[in-house]
Amino acid sequence: MDTRGALMTRRSIRRYKADPIPEADLKEILEAGLAAPSAINMQHWYFVAVQSPDALEKVKTIMGGVVEKFTPVLEQRFARNPEQVGITNKFLSTLGGAPVCVLVFFLKPDYPDRDGAMQSVSAAIENILLAAWDKGIGSCWLSAPQRMGFGPAFQERFAPDKGEFVAAITLGYPDQQPKMPPRREGRYTIV
Ligand SMILES: Cc1cc2nc3c(=O)[nH]c(=O)nc-3n(C[C@H](O)[C@H](O)[C@H](O)COP(=O)(O)O)c2cc1C
Repeated sequence: MDTRGALMTRRSIRRYKADPIPEADLKEILEAGLAAPSAINMQHWYFVAVQSPDALEKVKTIMGGVVEKFTPVLEQRFARNPEQVGITNKFLSTLGGAPVCVLVFFLKPDYPDRDGAMQSVSAAIENILLAAWDKGIGSCWLSAPQRMGFGPAFQERFAPDKGEFVAAITLGYPDQQPKMPPRREGRYTIV
């Protein structure tokens, strides 16, 4: 897949086949994350790729707590599409059946240029999504667990000395083909 093809056709996938991701592919995907640009090349990121059934169960247990706290937020957000609440919660609690969940950590949360460093972590996440899609592997970037305050739970269980939890990324072969959600007009100017 060429670069433009990958970035225009990547979609957030919320239902996956159970097929495992070959280890060589998973390593290449993580290496693509490490290849991202970063503020003064500080590479303020750390990734934990969770794939063993036991460890995935631990992730899902924490996600159960996320769902509980997130439900009122979703009920407000989807007041006009209440069916979305159940759909979103099901994805969060089951990870959509993804065989891999990458936990992303911000290695030096006390770094003075916190915003710059966080932008670097985001660049690495996007590299992971695109590198996965290049191999036909779908993904979804999840900030809900961090937003709902479950970062410390992920830190404690999976990476006690690797900084602050930022996001989770589900990875797996897609079991759905979502259309591109509409993009808004007028979001750039050329001067
Ligand atoms: C920072 C960030 C956080 C996100 N968090 C979530 C999330 O918690 N749950 C979820 O289902 N999708 C999440 N997404 C995926 C977005 O909903 C998705 O990217 C958006 O709807 C556009 O769809 P697309 O990725 O298919 O282009 C997140 C995306 C980003 C960039």
